[in-house]
Amino acid sequence: MAILALESSCDETAAAICTPDGRLLASRIASQADIHRLYGGVVPEVASRNHILHVRPLVAEVLAEAGMQLGDIAAFAATSGPGLVSSLLIGTSMAKALAVAEKKPFLAVNHMEGHLLSPFMDENGPVSPSIALIVSGGHTMLVQVRSVGDYRLLGRTRDDAAGEAFDKVAKMIGLPYPGGPEIDKQARLGNPRAYAFPRSFLDGQSLEFSFSGLKTAVLYELPKLNLENATVLADVCASVQEAITEVLVEKLVLAARQTGETLVTVSGGVSCNRGLREKLTARCAKEGLTLLLARPDLCTDNAGMIAFAAAQRFSLGHTSPLEADVDPNLAL
Ligand code: KG4
Ligand code: ZN
Repeated sequence: MAILALESSCDETAAAICTPDGRLLASRIASQADIHRLYGGVVPEVASRNHILHVRPLVAEVLAEAGMQLGDIAAFAATSGPGLVSSLLIGTSMAKALAVAEKKPFLAVNHMEGHLLSPFMDENGPVSPSIALIVSGGHTMLVQVRSVGDYRLLGRTRDDAAGEAFDKVAKMIGLPYPGGPEIDKQARLGNPRAYAFPRSFLDGQSLEFSFSGLKTAVLYELPKLNLENATVLADVCASVQEAITEVLVEKLVLAARQTGETLVTVSGGVSCNRGLREKLTARCAKEGLTLLLARPDLCTDNAGMIAFAAAQRFSLGHTSPLEADVDPNLAL
């Protein structure tokens, strides 16, 4: 028996199957990035129409990959928020329909819990007391994790999310959507000390984040920059990445110190960033903190993490009513 989960909160349609103890048996993603790149960002109407096209074939593909039939699935799960309403509705409607047809339970999964628990996948479990940094396109949060479902928000961004900062700056300097991976690529060739971009709330004990000042600082710098010059472009990218990642790493360490936790985890799309991963590894080793990072393909949106979160909840006896609605602003 296994759990089948669907993810359709934004512009990726994804399906995955995992065992009740959270071992991933199959995972597929149909990315729409190429379509939305034409518009410089996600167009909700276009996203939901494409989810409809992809969702049924993806279910068939993961069942085939896992060597299973619908009858082998113990519960059907889907992301119910936060995200785009019209996108969320596709995955949840499909999962509910499968649950009704197969007479099996349905589980509504919080997308952020999916990210939060993803570092515990790949035999890194069980989920243990820790400090989680979640850095995605829509969220930047520090969370104290006591056990599955027992979370305390320690801090979050007051304005832009870290991924949003990467994407907005990338757009300003002419890099394609999504900008995070593009800045990451360029930054490898640049000097992170070339430009001194602001680091908000770095002094003191605050666990809050703010990235809008960085965006403004880059905007003011723009007229002085010759971005046609590859070295200038690489230096700007490396400096922006340094400003964002330094704040993320320092706040995570601060949260660990304040709470006395020694296990820290980092998840969400931005946790793919090579500079961030290197900085985290070095800093955590120096601080004596144990660091769990999700596999890069489990950092950006995927259904594997949704299946894993659903399996954790299901094993605790949780299920959701079929009336459970989607919620674009669902809190953790
Ligand atoms: O978790 P995710 O796939 O979707 C949301 O739930 O938002 O995160 C997407 C975000 C985007 O802002 C994207 O630019 C950023 O993650 N991202 C990166 C990298 N890969 C994805 N940011 C920096 N460096 C990367 N390598
Ligand atoms: Zn996400």
